[in-house]
Amino acid sequence: MTTPYKHEPFTDFTNEVNKTAFKEALAKVNETMGRDYPLVINGERISTVEKITSINPANKEEIVGTVSKATQEHAEMAIQAAAEAFEEWRYSNPEERANILFRAAAIVRRQKHEFTALLVKEAGKPWKEADADTAEAIDFMEYYARQMIELAQGKPVNSREGEVNKYIYTPTGVTVSIPPWNFLFAIMAGITVAPIVTGNTVILKPASATPVIAARFVEVLEEAGLPKGVVNFVPGNGSEVGDYLVDHPKTSIITFTGSREIGTRIFERAAKVQPGQQHLKRVIAEMGGKDTVVVDKDCDIELAAQSIFTSAFGFAGQKCSAGSRAVVHEDVYDQVLQRVIEITEDQVVGNPEKAETYMGPVIDKGSFDKIMSYIEIGKEEGRLVSGGKGDDSKGYFIEPTIFADLDPNARIMQEEIFGPVVAFSKAANFDEALKIANNTEYGLTGAVITRNREYIERAKHEFHVGNLYFNRNCTGAIVGYHPFGGFKMSGTDSKAGGPDYLTLHMQAKTISEMY
Ligand code: NAD
Ligand code: ALA
Repeated sequence: MTTPYKHEPFTDFTNEVNKTAFKEALAKVNETMGRDYPLVINGERISTVEKITSINPANKEEIVGTVSKATQEHAEMAIQAAAEAFEEWRYSNPEERANILFRAAAIVRRQKHEFTALLVKEAGKPWKEADADTAEAIDFMEYYARQMIELAQGKPVNSREGEVNKYIYTPTGVTVSIPPWNFLFAIMAGITVAPIVTGNTVILKPASATPVIAARFVEVLEEAGLPKGVVNFVPGNGSEVGDYLVDHPKTSIITFTGSREIGTRIFERAAKVQPGQQHLKRVIAEMGGKDTVVVDKDCDIELAAQSIFTSAFGFAGQKCSAGSRAVVHEDVYDQVLQRVIEITEDQVVGNPEKAETYMGPVIDKGSFDKIMSYIEIGKEEGRLVSGGKGDDSKGYFIEPTIFADLDPNARIMQEEIFGPVVAFSKAANFDEALKIANNTEYGLTGAVITRNREYIERAKHEFHVGNLYFNRNCTGAIVGYHPFGGFKMSGTDSKAGGPDYLTLHMQAKTISEMY
């Protein structure tokens, strides 16, 4: 009998004991920098000559690790291994599979600070954000393991006189798991263990900016007792290895989290039935966001400002859930804007290894250049009121940047920037604010700050996002509490960390026996 699910608590870094322990973990992880990680196919380690190099975005000189780079031949080997392993794994006991996840969660929890320290190094996450990422990875394992135990019972259906009917869930097949770099531990782990616990086998193709944490996680799964071939670790180029895995006739499920551009590419390619394919592929695609914090005139101004600030600048705005748009009622617009500027300019931006740092770097040169070019666009479209400068001499640092007075259709109000940039737009009334909030092609998260009950009820129906929050920030969903996924071009609304998620990886089977 397992205990009920509870989310992993966050570490209190104001506590000196925790602070010291975390500094020790950072020092320990420092000693592992530069380690080389092989591919893992059917349990075999394969080292290639060509490598993917993972760089610390706060310090370009520091190599976090190198990872072997798969070719299409390796991808083919991995598919064959996963297909073969599936023939046994699909009949494994669901409770045994769940136990592997419980053990993996325990292994991570025992070295929690070390995993978190690795996230600080590999993605430039400040302590608090990195700690939450590790906690969420643990949560996915704990939550999905319990869900699987429940699902193994099937769901009730009616039986008539003389027959017994059953409705059960069975595994689907070879799954290709393609995570992004921003929740480098949590999302990577979540989209790997959900197919595994449901009896599928996996090819994990990690994000090229953050492959080291994925290599470490595969080691954890092996230590937890996962049989060979059930997870295969195949880092490689998206266009070479990614397309190959997606197109393969033996691939049954593609579970992807990342940009709209790549998500829609996968969706289209997976729809094509390849020669020899005996099923239709399923795609779980969670994509980008252009998320809005709406502020009504009847609100707590401080709460509004804190909510906009946290939503916009947590992990330098590199979250699909980031509140990169603030739509504020004209009566409180100046007050809210001024307070967000004050809070923002009071923060420490810089080295994420320091406890006091609120915001670290952005992930790489490509992101740095893209965000800086949006800042130039913002200067044309609106009024720069804070930040705006970048420095990529040592790492990829950009100031938290605030633009005011944007037209709702301006590019920086419409396009996902994925960096520390927030755009303010003024609304004459709540109707107009809601209209602006809904005027993008995305529909992932949103928040409304108001004391007005009627507006809260209206927004519940009329604000079209997958995750809607009231009187708080629009980031930071917790597994099991806030199932996460978006509408419209934000994805297939498959709610990660929610009660329906595992069934997306399974086939429902009806069994009817006469007696
Ligand atoms: P990305 O789309 O560039 O890459 C995501 C993954 O796809 C990576 O592993 C990449 O290597 C792989 N890939 C690239 N080309 C491929 C191809 N042709 N075939 C198969 N795989 C391929 O996204 P990113 O930069 O890693 O992540 C940022 C994006 O992710 C943002 O748009 C963000 O909003 C989104 N995101 C969404 C959610 C969500 O739950 N909706 C969560 C986190 C991030
Ligand atoms: N699940 C993450 C959040 O809610 C993306 O911020």
